[in-house]
Amino acid sequence: MSPISIGSGIRRRILLIGSVLVIGAACTAGATGLPQIIHARQNHFRMLGRIAKSLRDQVGRSHPNWRIVANDANRIERLASALPSWFPAGSGKGHGVKTRARAAIWANPQAFTLAARTLLDRARYLGQAADGHDLRALRLRTRGLGQACDSCHRRFRARGSWW
Ligand code: HEC
Repeated sequence: MSPISIGSGIRRRILLIGSVLVIGAACTAGATGLPQIIHARQNHFRMLGRIAKSLRDQVGRSHPNWRIVANDANRIERLASALPSWFPAGSGKGHGVKTRARAAIWANPQAFTLAARTLLDRARYLGQAADGHDLRALRLRTRGLGQACDSCHRRFRARGSWW
């Protein structure tokens, strides 16, 4: 294991702790305001983006670090299972806070939950490839995971931000 991978692992852990603190702070503030909810949600997605990038970096190697891959898959799985809770009713556009969350999320809650569920299932499937150290499966399943992100974005995320 290279010192670089240890360093980035620790960095990722710090980022995770940071986001937990953000949510914790928002919760202990009592009546959590809309801006906090939306910002916390966007922070979660940025973290999801960083984890997905870490995964892609590993997948591009001839000898991925399987520990990192398994950890990334596990973290995506956890975020995916929490994802629907980041979208309480009324946290869409039109409240003076920049968000790309489309009204379709609340108009079709089942389809949205299913899209989050698909991400969770694909992360779990990817984790199994990591457990088996199966590089071919890892590559295919990472692509499948990316498609789960894209298909939800196409349907439920607006292209630009609105206030
Ligand atoms: C179930 C639907 C869904 C899935 C699955 C999903 N996203 Fe998103 N994502 C959204 C929505 C909706 C937003 C807009 C949130 C907002 O602006 O309030 C978003 C925003 C983002 C952002 C922008 C955050 C910011 O404001 O800076 C990133 C980055 C992102 N997603 C990455 C990912 C990645 C990577 C995956 C897959 C590993 C993924 N998302 C899976 C729905 C989804």
